[in-house]
Amino acid sequence: MTDMRPILFFDSGVGGLSVLGPTRALLPRAPFVYVADSAGFPYGTKSEEEIAARVPALLGRLAERYHPRLIVIACNTASTIALAAVRTALDLPIVGTVPAIKPAAAISVTRAIGVLGTDATVRQPYVDDLTARFAGDCLVLRHGSAELVMLAEAKLRGAATDPARYAAVLDGLLGQPGGERIDTVVLACTHFPLVEAELSAAAAKAGGRTIHFVDGGAGIARRIAALTQGQQWPEDPGEGRAIFTRADADIVALMPALADYGLSRLEPF
Ligand code: DGL
Repeated sequence: MTDMRPILFFDSGVGGLSVLGPTRALLPRAPFVYVADSAGFPYGTKSEEEIAARVPALLGRLAERYHPRLIVIACNTASTIALAAVRTALDLPIVGTVPAIKPAAAISVTRAIGVLGTDATVRQPYVDDLTARFAGDCLVLRHGSAELVMLAEAKLRGAATDPARYAAVLDGLLGQPGGERIDTVVLACTHFPLVEAELSAAAAKAGGRTIHFVDGGAGIARRIAALTQGQQWPEDPGEGRAIFTRADADIVALMPALADYGLSRLEPF
């Protein structure tokens, strides 16, 4: 019998596509289910208590329904708050997405790094810990932005977004004392790689600087490939399935972007 169990990707919205993209490229025969918790979106402005109560319970329900071989929490906010609780609750491999501070510290020449995430992520002790372990000799500045999450969602719905808004978000990070030294910025929210081109353009305009943007997508894809090594994949995995926890009009506008990531089957929650 062919093993049809999918890999389940989970985020509050479309951000997890930035992790699904490199994973599909590495594992073209893997069946995928993508779940956007649109009923709970956005996560970044919620409290730790709300995220900790919501995410493990929801993933438990989703695991029962879809019988995934592995779950990817493709969300830094959910991972930095609830990864340990989800691993304790579920008896299957759980891959989290945490800020890529280690690879950023490995390439920063100026030894000054920016961490751009949601408000909830940038205040997590998990980020303090990553900073102490991997970037002890760097200046590490953080900035939380709910605006950038909205811009990424709007872009994927095909809406035009104003370049000045990306510049303002970036200024919240680079405009801090010492920010002029930053040469590497960690995109510590999975929505942000989806607008990396816009951020690069804003950085170039703000004083002609080249900033390296770093995210965990490719590394997570390699981790998933390693954890599923030797497993059987179907000859034809079929179209990927997308599930939104709240049905609304925005989903129709997202369909073309979802199809670009192989998610052309929309299923009700
Ligand atoms: N994509 C999510 C993250 O990586 C959070 C976006 C949100 O819902 O605020 O943190």
